[in-house]
Amino acid sequence: MILADKTPNQTPHLPLGDQRTSPWYGKSIVSVKQFSRDDLTYIFEVAHEMREMVERIGTFDLLKGKILANLFYEPSTRTASSFTAAMERLGGSVIPINEVKYSSVAKGESLPDTVRSLECYSDVVVLRHPEIGASALAAKYARKPVINGGDGAGEHPTQALLDLFTIIEEHGQPDGLTITMLGDLKHGRTVHSLSRLLSLYDVRLNYVSPEILRMSSEIIKEIDEKGIPQSEYNELEEPLPETDVLYVTRVQKERFDDPEEYEKVKGAYVITPATLESAKEAMVLMHPLPRVGEISMELDDDPRAAYFRQMEYGMYVRMALLAMVLGKA
Ligand code: ASP
Ligand code: CP
Repeated sequence: MILADKTPNQTPHLPLGDQRTSPWYGKSIVSVKQFSRDDLTYIFEVAHEMREMVERIGTFDLLKGKILANLFYEPSTRTASSFTAAMERLGGSVIPINEVKYSSVAKGESLPDTVRSLECYSDVVVLRHPEIGASALAAKYARKPVINGGDGAGEHPTQALLDLFTIIEEHGQPDGLTITMLGDLKHGRTVHSLSRLLSLYDVRLNYVSPEILRMSSEIIKEIDEKGIPQSEYNELEEPLPETDVLYVTRVQKERFDDPEEYEKVKGAYVITPATLESAKEAMVLMHPLPRVGEISMELDDDPRAAYFRQMEYGMYVRMALLAMVLGKA
């Protein structure tokens, strides 16, 4: 697949994909369950091309004239701004609804009506919403593609794609790796999506969390059926020396019904340089961000700390996804 004419200093020629045959054209992305290993290989190839193009020329016109509606019912720094940057780097534009209280949602407009309104003005909608299944519901009503930017404690599929891209960039193919997820595995939508995505590979998964924040038994069962070894721990000490990728998450304060329960577990884990003394030299330390104390800033210069690179990879992956669902890759 050649997206770009690589002749230096020449305006890139980006052949359009065949809109009628591209399998992703017009498709919504609501769950990582939609992806096969071949799909992932393809997405990451396109993401690489996007990265190369951004490094060479910055912005190009693959999606010129296309409009993205960014509909965010929950706060976001990375997802909202990286989708905006992705669309603008591809020559398209964005309708930002980052604070729904200033939209007609505040008057009581339903999600299906809000999405059907926005798709009149745009070609693709990115939706973040506090309820599990919100993106699937929106996709059911929408005629244009809806991309799940996080549905409550459900999934965050584009984050998992960028997480996997990060693992591959930093460590190579995931086969044979031990990935340890730590923190709020109950409410963390990023780990729900990432564990499912990793189950397409030959990996070992460790889950480290307080008792009340365990990974759901439903997800564990789903992954178990794929033959992936999984182990649960209360402390990081035991699985750390074998870990190739340590994926740290924030305790999701906003998902707790009882603030006292949150107080009990909020500082459960803090990764410091001392913690990593027993970790592998080549271990990759990831976090979807924002962090609220789970990883000490003293680690930011450690070559294993990949969380800022992880954010940047996200823009290339989102550029690839936008091009795909809009029939241009
Ligand atoms: N930003 C990620 C999410 O929206 C992780 C987090 O908020 O802790 O799921
Ligand atoms: N990782 C992530 O989704 O970040 P935001 O919540 O800032 O979008």
